[in-house]
Amino acid sequence: MAKRGDGKKFSVLIAGGGSTYTPGIVLTLLNGLDKFPLRKLKFYDIDGERQEKIAEATEILLKERAPEIEFLATTDPEKAFTDVDFVMAQIRVGKYAMRDVDEKIPLKHGVVGQETTGPGGIAYGLRSIPGVIGLVKYMEKYSPDAWMLNYSNPAAIVAEATRRECPNSKIINICDMPIGIMDRMAEIVGLKDRNELDFRYYGLNHFGWWTDVWDKEGNNLMPELKEYVSKNGYWIGGDYDKGTEASWEATFKMAADTFALDPTTLPNTYLKYYMYPTQVVEHSDPHHTRTDEVREHREKNVFSECKRIVKEGTAKDTNFVPDDHSTYIVDLCEAIAYNTHQRMLAIIPNEGAISNIDPTATVEVPCLFGSNGPERLAMGEAAQYQAGMITEQNSVEKLAVDAWQQHSYTKLWQAFSLCKIVPDAKVAKDILDEMIIANKDYWPELK
Ligand code: NAD
Ligand code: G6P
Ligand code: MN
Repeated sequence: MAKRGDGKKFSVLIAGGGSTYTPGIVLTLLNGLDKFPLRKLKFYDIDGERQEKIAEATEILLKERAPEIEFLATTDPEKAFTDVDFVMAQIRVGKYAMRDVDEKIPLKHGVVGQETTGPGGIAYGLRSIPGVIGLVKYMEKYSPDAWMLNYSNPAAIVAEATRRECPNSKIINICDMPIGIMDRMAEIVGLKDRNELDFRYYGLNHFGWWTDVWDKEGNNLMPELKEYVSKNGYWIGGDYDKGTEASWEATFKMAADTFALDPTTLPNTYLKYYMYPTQVVEHSDPHHTRTDEVREHREKNVFSECKRIVKEGTAKDTNFVPDDHSTYIVDLCEAIAYNTHQRMLAIIPNEGAISNIDPTATVEVPCLFGSNGPERLAMGEAAQYQAGMITEQNSVEKLAVDAWQQHSYTKLWQAFSLCKIVPDAKVAKDILDEMIIANKDYWPELK
């Protein structure tokens, strides 16, 4: 453990250096050097060409703002993972080309096509598992004392797989969705950001509920938040949302409909896919899905801004900014580095945190973060409605990992058909059979 002001500086590796989220993290790290000092920053990716575009812009940023930080972008795992204190993982196995398939095959069959939900999420899970486990193995070989904070999706399935395959590894799976929503909650009640809130939350990843939200004086903010969310969902509008894309606007607004189903809690936005799949499919264009939007907006903007920085030879006026995604992962590193015991969410084995849910379920609950990792907090009993939903969805996630481990067609078919958004086993099979062909370079051969 380090002590503030003791002069210790950290070495951070971003695995998935070519990710669209990398520049935001670099900006956050640079803005926070007084709180979390760096000696080294490294990028690792299997696509050296994609990573290089972000690395070239990062080099200029570092030269201008913190030339003392050593920087390396590499496709060599040994160079990448040696002498590292924190690994921030955000890989996308199969990249957007495969996300496209994950979204479009289910939609062809009238089923929600989504990155982490339903058949698309399961398909992505079977690609991600070996990719993320590979990163854990590199970390343990070259920097056994390091911690990995993993954003790589689908985080629920990845976390279930790492719980089984590497139970003693220092990997912590995380998500930025509740974080973004809590920033919105703070805005709704007139506070600065999520750090001015206390909360209780439980569920699975992309599948959870807030039971309580307070300000730091302990005042209950739920009545005001419920009143707002019942009308507007988590949509703020105005300046706050001027950069928010139309599909996210719809998602934030739809939290009002999800809230209506259980007005005792506040929902994660992802629950809309499970509660209102028919409506979601009706509003989807099977030929132009979220992947197309991301390629047209986020990916395009990130890479054109990198190109501009390189061309102009300066990043002084860059439009890259810290966001909830980047500040959360850096805050987590800081909490671990300095043993702060800050209360933050993580996706971890239940082990009693939700008392009436399988202890081996992989859940998302608040934890106290310190130098020995996350210490889960007990959230008590899930209500009947939530307990039923969690148990079903957790079985889907467990069956997906069973299928990957056992190379089992039947387990994967069960996972697809148990999923709440898939109407029956025949549709599940039709989607699965198409996905097997599309994923032949990534999935184990199923028997
Ligand atoms: P992206 O495609 O822009 O970047 C991912 C990078 O990972 C690519 O450069 C790719 O070459 C690389 N990669 C793929 N397989 C790899 C491997 N085995 N080893 C090393 N690198 C590999 O994707 P993006 O949209 O920026 O998202 C990155 C990841 O972060 C995705 O998994 C996404 O779902 C996830 N994400 C998660 C959260 C969360 O809440 N958990 C939030 C945002 C993004
Ligand atoms: C949220 C979720 C992430 C997910 C992302 C998708 O941040 O928490 O898990 O990857 O949204 O965003 P995109 O813009 O790529 O559809
Ligand atoms: Mn997430």
